[in-house]
Amino acid sequence: MFYPFELEKYLEMLLPPRDELLLEMEREALVETIPVVTPAVGHFLQLLLETAGARSILEIGTATGYSTIYLARGARQTGGRVLTIDMNKGRMDRAVEYIAKAGLKDLVEFRFGNALKILPELSGRFDFIFVDAAKGEYRQYVELILPLMADGGILVLDNVLFRGWVVPGSVYDSKYNNMVETLRAFLQYLAELPGYKLSVLPFGDGLAIVRKNGPFEKTLPKNSSCKEQKE
Ligand SMILES: C[S@@+](CC[C@H](N)C(=O)[O-])C[C@H]1O[C@@H](n2cnc3c(N)ncnc32)[C@H](O)[C@@H]1O
Repeated sequence: MFYPFELEKYLEMLLPPRDELLLEMEREALVETIPVVTPAVGHFLQLLLETAGARSILEIGTATGYSTIYLARGARQTGGRVLTIDMNKGRMDRAVEYIAKAGLKDLVEFRFGNALKILPELSGRFDFIFVDAAKGEYRQYVELILPLMADGGILVLDNVLFRGWVVPGSVYDSKYNNMVETLRAFLQYLAELPGYKLSVLPFGDGLAIVRKNGPFEKTLPKNSSCKEQKE
């Protein structure tokens, strides 16, 4: 049985207290139904990024910047930077304000537009990539992301279990059949990607963790910083 709500509430109880800014963003996301990551997922992203020592960080799906704050706080520990992409101008403008309020503005570069257009324009390598955008486009993002991944780099994708319905035997409304089938096929594609390892973690809305084989360089490769990409 899959009890995401109870699981998430319990995991949240085990987290350190969150500051007022994150709590305000959570309240706002709830009221406006902006599907931000759960606190447990945000905490995990930061922990994983710091554990890897990742420095060149890419996010697809900024929204108002809740997950970006966790990524940028991790980047502050590793000496890294975050490039974050979203196609919703209103949300991105708010993210810019929140990141400034969090004192992280020097660590984050914002790119407004469709990730499917922006990703092919990026050069260099990223050692940590977080995808939390349109589930139906995940396969397309990944095909564009793979050439951008550093050896040993980590790709995390949110929502891959889609409320647990991707697990065979789940009961859900037939209007979600297409999305569930698309996500099952997508996870199978990730599982069979040569040169990469996949683990799927059943918390939040389901996280796929993909690691590119090879030694992790732990340094910013030339031409890979967000700043350089901007220039
Ligand atoms: C689930 S929200 C992101 C939440 C955010 N990661 C957080 O946890 O705080 C998804 C965002 O992806 C953006 N998005 C969807 N498709 C996109 C695309 N093709 N290119 C850029 N952004 C996209 C939407 O505008 C939306 O703000």
